[in-house]
Amino acid sequence: MTDIIAIANPKGGSAKTATAVNLCCALAATRRKVLLVDLDPHCSATVAVGFEHSASDCSIAGVLLGEYVIDDCIKTYTQGHFDVIPGHEDLTAIPVALYQEKDEKLRLKKALSRIARHYDFIILDCPPALNTLTVNALCAANLLIIPMPCEYFAIDSMFSLIALYQELNASGEASIKLLGIVRTLFDETHPLSQQISHELEEQFEGMLFDSIINYNERISESASSGRPIMLYDKSSSGARAYLALAGEFLKKVRDLKE
Ligand SMILES: Nc1ncnc2c1ncn2[C@@H]1O[C@H](COP(=O)(O)OP(=O)(O)OP(=O)(O)O)[C@@H](O)[C@H]1O
Ligand SMILES: [Mg+2]
Repeated sequence: MTDIIAIANPKGGSAKTATAVNLCCALAATRRKVLLVDLDPHCSATVAVGFEHSASDCSIAGVLLGEYVIDDCIKTYTQGHFDVIPGHEDLTAIPVALYQEKDEKLRLKKALSRIARHYDFIILDCPPALNTLTVNALCAANLLIIPMPCEYFAIDSMFSLIALYQELNASGEASIKLLGIVRTLFDETHPLSQQISHELEEQFEGMLFDSIINYNERISESASSGRPIMLYDKSSSGARAYLALAGEFLKKVRDLKE
């Protein structure tokens, strides 16, 4: 069965896109079939794998609006050996365009059901908002990863996301499980990073990934160069951190199925 993973946190700049892109690349390196879907109108994930921002109308926005068949919007990111469905600035129109449509929350799930069998993992990069796009991701996914920056305490945003997916599960619209919270942007030289990491350990014992993504300039450089960190600088601490996260991810997913 294909695992569909939403990477979400309404807090902006929490490393959702970095986690989505680099996890895709690390999983693809283990020969898994992987698809990345960019649900953010800013298209950061699309750009981070070298595709042009809103270059094509054939994007996930067109799919959600019913203008394109999802099969036609899949691009191959040859260097990284994974597929991508690009974002588009038209995603900003989705919440209004789908408002009160019968299948408002389920468009993505329906679209992905056409192609899911071709993949081991489908990774959904969510926008920094609890809007229709994130709701579609939560309804389409069976697993949730929350990247949590160790730069500032963004715990309220995380609780609002947890409340939302629990509500969707309770109403039967979603069936999603929290796979884990990933500490990101961790700077070991910074006391605030240490403090936030410890507070997360206390409050979310058992829900945290052991792997921590450290602050590494090479990760932001790689995003602007249009390559995942493993392809930009595979010896960097950021590349090692995301490879370790992917290993732990695979173990957690395997454990869930046993
Ligand atoms: N481990 C890291 N070390 C250094 N910089 C990082 C790291 N992870 C992400 N960044 C940079 O921090 C910024 C925010 O990261 P990213 O875009 O992944 O967050 P986001 O949660 O997707 O943001 P948004 O909410 O705007 O979509 C980007 O410039 C990114 O390149
Ligand atoms: Mg992002």
